Amino acid sequence: TRKLVIVGGASTYTPELVDGIARLRDTLQVGELVLVDPAVERLELIESLARRILARQGHPATVTSTTDLEGAVTDADAVLIQLRVGGQDARSQDETWPLECGCVGQETTGAGGLAKALRTVPVVLDIAERVRHRNPHAWIINFTNPVGIVTRALQTQGHRAVGLCNVAIGFQRLFAGLLEVDHRRIRLDHVGLNHLTWERGVTLLDAPGASDGKPVLDRLISDFAPALEEETELPADLFRRLGTIPSYYLRFYYQHDKVVQELKSRPPRGAEVATIEKELLALYADPTLDTKPELLTRRGGAYYSEAAVELIAALLGTAAGTVQVANVRNAGTLPFLPEDAVVEVPARIDADGAHPEPVAPLEPLFAGLVAHAFSYEQLALEAALKGGRDRVSAALLAHPLVGQLEPADQLTDRLLAHNREYLPWT
Ligand code: G6P
Ligand code: MN
Repeated sequence: TRKLVIVGGASTYTPELVDGIARLRDTLQVGELVLVDPAVERLELIESLARRILARQGHPATVTSTTDLEGAVTDADAVLIQLRVGGQDARSQDETWPLECGCVGQETTGAGGLAKALRTVPVVLDIAERVRHRNPHAWIINFTNPVGIVTRALQTQGHRAVGLCNVAIGFQRLFAGLLEVDHRRIRLDHVGLNHLTWERGVTLLDAPGASDGKPVLDRLISDFAPALEEETELPADLFRRLGTIPSYYLRFYYQHDKVVQELKSRPPRGAEVATIEKELLALYADPTLDTKPELLTRRGGAYYSEAAVELIAALLGTAAGTVQVANVRNAGTLPFLPEDAVVEVPARIDADGAHPEPVAPLEPLFAGLVAHAFSYEQLALEAALKGGRDRVSAALLAHPLVGQLEPADQLTDRLLAHNREYLPWT
């Protein structure tokens, strides 16, 4: 059996992951689960709920929790990193001050996403270094946002890291539900960077694991417009015109100004999530609760557990050779990006890692934005690693949603003012 470590184990997301581990025991046999987190009180709460969830499903894994990362990762097969430096408070800030400059306020996109990257990259690199020192063989599964930038930071330091997001699996499950087929029959032509992706094609395979199938994207677009609109918050007419389904995050680009107006009129998502988390923690404290509560569906991580379990199983050899969408080293897949870019595409996963499947050349509709956003990501990582006001403003000048001098300078001022306690170089 396998040993998994969850860094950020006291997250309210953890029961989602534990539920997946319990349900998917045929895919991945977990014998030991260790939750690591500095928030001791919360950690104990999550630990005992995790035990109850596993027990209810008759799962044999042991669950322990600790604040000691090094001790936890000894003998671990995989280490999942799912943390949020500064918690929902810092996130709410990221979602608020950019709006004052007429820019979108979001935790991964725009200036807020840059702030999150600057706070997060050094912390995750430090964790990964300590993991490697104790256990160079463990795989690192990174769910920490911004996933593209953080995963690239890990890979450029030579860590065995794969980045994970639930957008693709969300589409796969949605399409399977709409077509009333087994989700393993849905193959996505999913392409882009994390939180900047499009479904360019969808194939309904003849059977799970089959290589042949028929294209169904057009049918999905014509027959299921309301469901697709609900998932992406974009108008169905756009799918028809583009012949593609953008992810929800493309809304921050295609409807930027409209979204800024909307965001100005309501509390930040971080505040909403903080309220949900309070309620969740109250539910988790009930010693009779032994399932993930319905309320958890109001968080954004749907199917995250299944994506994580499938990815880890393939990396550890149990489901080797399966194709899953992941955040992986570009290695020429998108020839206009550097080899060491991190792209979000279908990849064949085995014990050597994630190997991107060939991707048909990107049409101008996608290519320009992908190249532009990746340039921003490069500069964001430089700024996160080296610090300095000029590096921050350069990243913002390169960002497709900023790009102008005055807003870039104003955003830089605000970003630095709101994040001093997290940025030692300020
Ligand atoms: C989706 C994204 C994640 C993000 C989450 C936010 O699942 O793929 O990257 O962390 O939404 O959910 P929340 O409930 O915190 O708004
Ligand atoms: Mn994501």
